[in-house]
Amino acid sequence: MQESQHGVELRGVSRIYTRGGEGVKVFDDVDLSVNAGAFCALMGPSGSGKSTLLNLVGGLDRPDSGDVVVGDTFLSDLSESALAEWRSENVGFVFQGFNLVPVLTAFENVELPLLLTGLSKAERKEHAMHALELVDMGDRAKHRPGQLSGGQEQRVAIARAIASDPGVILADEPTGDLDFESACQVLDLMGRLHTELGKTILMVTHDPRAAERAERVIHLDKGRISESSEGTESADDGFREVKPREGEGA
Ligand SMILES: Nc1ncnc2c1ncn2[C@@H]1O[C@H](COP(=O)(O)OP(=O)(O)OP(=O)(O)O)[C@@H](O)[C@H]1O
Ligand SMILES: [Mg+2]
Repeated sequence: MQESQHGVELRGVSRIYTRGGEGVKVFDDVDLSVNAGAFCALMGPSGSGKSTLLNLVGGLDRPDSGDVVVGDTFLSDLSESALAEWRSENVGFVFQGFNLVPVLTAFENVELPLLLTGLSKAERKEHAMHALELVDMGDRAKHRPGQLSGGQEQRVAIARAIASDPGVILADEPTGDLDFESACQVLDLMGRLHTELGKTILMVTHDPRAAERAERVIHLDKGRISESSEGTESADDGFREVKPREGEGA
């Protein structure tokens, strides 16, 4: 597996959803810069745009204005089909509810995104088993999701996210449905993806203990982005705005 070359940048990004003729402004001209290989936690109240931000970075959604740049790719330059191909090679998603396919085995779930790549069957097997072993689930390859605990399911979902060796991992409340011990295992794993594999990680969480694992804590609120660095412990004294723009009111 390769270290990430994928920094993430939002440049003047706005995203407005229109609902029933009314606009919901989720982001208004925000900037954010995340270095390649960084581990960031995203926190903020419900509806503050955390999932929207992950969707923009992963190319599942497009901004109304501004640029999303991942590595040296401007996502706005890509057509829908080019974006889907880019996503399958460069981004791994992890969700709160695991989102495994219930009728497939752990191995088949991990292999699934590899079917979109040009890998041969033997290469797919090698990649999928390697990913399962990385999350310590190699001995459960033939089990279906219903035969696994929540923590084990999430580890399989992480294997699926890393199977194609993407530079960026986007995790949306990956420990939200887990008991304390399983959550710790998943957070240990996220930490290893950062320290051992050098992945760029954006992880949404409501849990300050989960956020403490990250190097940076990015706060979203009312369409704005701010941050505290070095985990939540410094939230009181380390709070600062990210790149405020000229003429923008507080
Ligand atoms: N497809 C959509 N159409 C219309 N509005 C949307 C859509 N997706 C998100 N929104 C709105 O955008 C805002 C941000 O939503 P988002 O899901 O990003 O919040 P969140 O921070 O992830 O919240 P939560 O913690 O509850 O998951 C909300 O007001 C939401 O209702
Ligand atoms: Mg969300």
